[in-house]
Amino acid sequence: MHKVKSKPATRGKKQKIRLAIAGVGNCASALVQGLDYYRGGHTTEGLLHEQIGPYKIDDIEIVAAFDIDKRKVGRPLHEAISALPNCAKTFIKPVRRWPLKVKMGPVLDGVSKLSQTFPESERIVVAAEKSVDIAEELRKTRASVLVCFLPVGSKNAVEAYAEACLEAQVSFVNCIPVFIASDKKWAARFKKRGLPVVGDDIKSQVGATAVHRALMRLLSEKGAAPVSTYQLNVGGNTDFLNMLERPRLEQKKISKTEAVQSQISNTLPSKSIHIGPSDYVPFLKDQKQCFLKIDWVGFGGIQNGLELRLTVEDSPNSAGVAIDAIRCAQLAMDKGIGGALDAVSSFSMKHPTHQVSDSEAWQNISRWIDQAERV
Ligand SMILES: NC(=O)c1ccc[n+]([C@@H]2O[C@H](COP(=O)([O-])OP(=O)(O)OC[C@H]3O[C@@H](n4cnc5c(N)ncnc54)[C@H](O)[C@@H]3O)[C@@H](O)[C@H]2O)c1
Repeated sequence: MHKVKSKPATRGKKQKIRLAIAGVGNCASALVQGLDYYRGGHTTEGLLHEQIGPYKIDDIEIVAAFDIDKRKVGRPLHEAISALPNCAKTFIKPVRRWPLKVKMGPVLDGVSKLSQTFPESERIVVAAEKSVDIAEELRKTRASVLVCFLPVGSKNAVEAYAEACLEAQVSFVNCIPVFIASDKKWAARFKKRGLPVVGDDIKSQVGATAVHRALMRLLSEKGAAPVSTYQLNVGGNTDFLNMLERPRLEQKKISKTEAVQSQISNTLPSKSIHIGPSDYVPFLKDQKQCFLKIDWVGFGGIQNGLELRLTVEDSPNSAGVAIDAIRCAQLAMDKGIGGALDAVSSFSMKHPTHQVSDSEAWQNISRWIDQAERV
């Protein structure tokens, strides 16, 4: 765990991080539970950073939440996180009662058509309510950071939340593979408004991407030449159900493939690399299984290979990384640092503007936090 020296915020009294959440699905559930799990600092086990700048986990206060599902909209946040079709593990009970209800967001392209042929208990059921004005809600609740947990493929919806953040002067942490922070035009718009943006597509703490990247880098460092690789992922949560609709996956595939290709000296031809969500297996719920295979050529042109299977609880695996990205966004906000946060994004996201190795990303984020604290 990275322990950063405690320093008081430079501009007067330390603020709370006023967090808004877009998409109260499994990732949001793990994040909300995590805030409680680490409350009071009685344990730091499982955390990447105990403190970032002046911010401990207890300094995050949820002030707004948006969703479109009839079982979540209008309900208190602590109830909505465990409403169907959410299936993330409950790791703290009872969860804190936040004094807020989930508000209706704009549906746009948030729902996959294919998912609507599945039982209601497994899919989104759109509420009849009219969408609130997101920017207005962000202003009213004085949110400072919005974390985006919308389904893969919801480009128009993600852009609508990004626009609302620009309008309401709110920093944007984009955990989904719709390119905002890594898109030059969007990054420039955030910079112009002096607002930090972190993205895109959250990395897990130790997930399929991290393991795959580490192994590919190992091969490169040892002079072995990868010849082909696949990473097949299956799971039983709504994220995997949504990803059955292949056209929604375009940016997810780019994000995951680039994250791995960036770790080897000679990138593989596209026909020799296959990475992506591969099937939906409902009884797995939030457990993700990753099947990974790498073949390479070593000394003397001899071919060798490796196969492994990784099992992780999907949503808690990325919640700690999101909590770090949120605290970095707030620190940047405090210090007047706007635009895409490069070091923060390459540490926490699969598709940042610049790909580096995970160990380099760790060093860069540590340096960035130290420097930001001194601004
Ligand atoms: N380890 C991880 O879990 C991980 C890693 C990388 C990326 N992600 C990405 O994070 C995102 C969230 O994942 P999840 O497992 O929480 O998904 P989820 O399907 O459980 O949650 C998505 C939520 O968004 C809501 N929603 C849909 N359209 C909306 C709209 N227009 N406005 C507001 N809410 C809307 C849904 O009702 C649902 O509650 C996904 O895009 C996923 O790919 C997750």
